[in-house]
Amino acid sequence: MVVKSPLKRTVRILLVGDSGVGKTSLILSLVSEEFPENVPAKAEEITIPADVTPEQVPTNIVDYSAAEQSEAELNEQIKRASVVCIIYAVDDDESIDRITSHWMPLIRQNHPDTPCPVVLVGNKIDLVDYSTIDGIFEIMEEYSEIETCIECSAKTLKNISEMFYYAQKAVLHPTAPIYSVEKAD
Ligand code: GTP
Repeated sequence: MVVKSPLKRTVRILLVGDSGVGKTSLILSLVSEEFPENVPAKAEEITIPADVTPEQVPTNIVDYSAAEQSEAELNEQIKRASVVCIIYAVDDDESIDRITSHWMPLIRQNHPDTPCPVVLVGNKIDLVDYSTIDGIFEIMEEYSEIETCIECSAKTLKNISEMFYYAQKAVLHPTAPIYSVEKAD
């Protein structure tokens, strides 16, 4: 008997988050393995071939820029994403508040049927000597589609490849329940 393995799909990782949190820097740091001093408003879409990703799945990484994109374009990108990374800056409380006041509701609106996996990413950890993770765990308890969280720094490259690996894993090996008891009638 021949066992056929299913074709591996492409993982589409979208980075969202408030202006200035470091989305573009994170993508360019991953690709060039060094911190870019000057970043464009938006990185070009990047395709990583399957054989250089830890999960062996072709992966597209997509940046978002409020300066260059309309609300409609953002909604379209959220719909197309297989996982959304919400980036916040660990030294910017407002960017943390906006995870629940803005970004999670927007992602839910654009994925009304099947929840889209989310990874919370605290960037600029090089600037502080504390962790934001306790507060982030409270947010994770509210939203079952948040698969995981990680703190990192585009500047020192700390946890950069881990962040993109977590995003891949959130799609390929999700832990969120497919069936929610809360939603059942
Ligand atoms: P928008 O394009 O406005 O949406 O911003 P963005 O989220 O893409 O942020 P961007 O990558 O443009 O970075 C904003 C600023 O933060 C730049 O001055 C970066 O150099 C700086 N920055 C990004 N990541 C880090 C980091 O890990 N540590 C420090 N110290 N600065 C960072």
